[in-house]
Amino acid sequence: MADQGEDKLLGHSYDGIQEYDNPMPRWWVWVFWATIIFVPFYYFLPAPFGEGEGVIAQYDADVAQHQSSQPAQVAATVTDDELHELSEDAAALADGKAVYATNCAACHRADGGGLIGPNLTDDMWIHGGAPTQVHHTIAVGVLEKGMPPWERILKPEQLNHVAAYVLSLRGTNPPNPKAPEGTAATPSSGS
Ligand code: HEC
Repeated sequence: MADQGEDKLLGHSYDGIQEYDNPMPRWWVWVFWATIIFVPFYYFLPAPFGEGEGVIAQYDADVAQHQSSQPAQVAATVTDDELHELSEDAAALADGKAVYATNCAACHRADGGGLIGPNLTDDMWIHGGAPTQVHHTIAVGVLEKGMPPWERILKPEQLNHVAAYVLSLRGTNPPNPKAPEGTAATPSSGS
């Protein structure tokens, strides 16, 4: 400041205190206004600069992705009728069978006759035999009894397909099945 000559004293006085006139540097003032002008363009235009969808669309996408990964939502997205239909859909069954062979056969046996886990081909169910009940058991598991939860390991679609595949095993009467466990359930929407 010393090299700018005499500092200018402003005319007013507050309780005897006076102040010098020290304006912000011009470049600083320009950057300040530029950032304010930049904000609405950045925030509201869909894709103002370069690639990408803009902040709001990105936020919506993130929220949607998060919600679809929530277990409760996954379970709520399928109905008895949908699972029943999938259990008659060849492509869904083929996918379900592959998922089953990889993840489930070790405990429930390749043909579903039961080993560590119960027989999946009979009409007896510990946790209910309606399509959504079977789906739910697979999704959340029964950890204390040794049935793992699959909702975080399988994709929602795989979960639907493997549930449909399990439903399709009913009545297949494999040899040497595990003794029935649970109570009889003839699912209302299955047949
Ligand atoms: C580590 C062994 C194990 C694996 C792997 C396993 N299960 Fe199970 N599963 C069990 C056991 C044990 C039970 C019995 C739980 C109980 O007694 O409550 C069970 C129960 C079930 C039930 C409920 C049966 C009923 O009577 O209510 C279904 C349906 C089922 N499993 C499907 C599957 C599917 C589908 C997979 C593969 C994605 C799978 N399980 C993988 C051990 C396993």
